[in-house]
Amino acid sequence: MAEQLHGQPLLRVTGLRKAFGAVQATNNVNIDVRAGEIHALIGPNGAGKSTLISQICGEQMPDSGSIFLDGRDVTSSAAFARARLGLGRSFQITELCADFTALENVVLSVMLRKGRPFGCWGNPRHDEALVAEARTQLAHVGLSSREQVAVADLAHGEKRQLELAVALARRPRLLLLDEPMAGMGAEESASMTRLLRSMKGYYGILLVEHDMDAVFALADRISVLVYGRTIFTGTPDEVRRHPEVRAAYLGEDHALQPALAATTPGEVHAHT
Ligand SMILES: Nc1ncnc2c1ncn2[C@@H]1O[C@H](COP(=O)(O)OP(=O)(O)OP(=O)(O)O)[C@@H](O)[C@H]1O
Ligand SMILES: [Mg+2]
Repeated sequence: MAEQLHGQPLLRVTGLRKAFGAVQATNNVNIDVRAGEIHALIGPNGAGKSTLISQICGEQMPDSGSIFLDGRDVTSSAAFARARLGLGRSFQITELCADFTALENVVLSVMLRKGRPFGCWGNPRHDEALVAEARTQLAHVGLSSREQVAVADLAHGEKRQLELAVALARRPRLLLLDEPMAGMGAEESASMTRLLRSMKGYYGILLVEHDMDAVFALADRISVLVYGRTIFTGTPDEVRRHPEVRAAYLGEDHALQPALAATTPGEVHAHT
């Protein structure tokens, strides 16, 4: 893992700009994610975090700048081509098939990865290899006992866990997670933090999150986005000490204050 951490980054974004009319949603963003690293992206509401994620995925095209996956320029590649290169994502708002069970959602994701067309070869629920692989992913996120429950009947935190299983079933190397803790209570957040920690080292993760306890507990590095600009990238300790970061947050996002106030990472870890 140490070798991977010092090699070429899995993801490199340079000079990325995207405007919506007069709003510069991303304004010269530079960021990289190394293999096995959790790189957190924080910033006030409207800073451009989700817009950055959707450009990295290929859902939105940048006005200028470049995106490299494993050194390959994918700036103009379609989203499905990036997924094939190992890019996986979760959304700020849950996007699952609500009428399907947890297991069926993951089975669909495995089928997508395998490029198997829906409805061609009989009922996928009876394909043992597909189902076994989907069950492995459900176990990974701690949802084995809920596999037959329809998504609509899952608790909010379970839906976010399931989203992760759906993303993992695509066998990504790089995961883009847009607020996986959004809408969670303290217990659900702590459980998601444990899950993400257990994944550390196996995937590169770009983690957008407002839950600062989680960010400071998980991140190897943190980038701070303000008005579409990456104003700083550093270790959690460096971010805590940075005057511009403190100013940006103390003015605009009080959620960061307790995490910034902690003088050692241990004090923040103690909350999770
Ligand atoms: N499709 C769009 N059309 C017009 N403006 C947009 C669009 N998407 C985003 N914006 C604007 O771009 C800016 C960045 O939005 P974005 O959703 O990326 O912020 P964010 O950092 O993800 O915020 P939050 O923390 O609230 O999720 C905002 O001013 C937003 O209103
Ligand atoms: Mg967002």
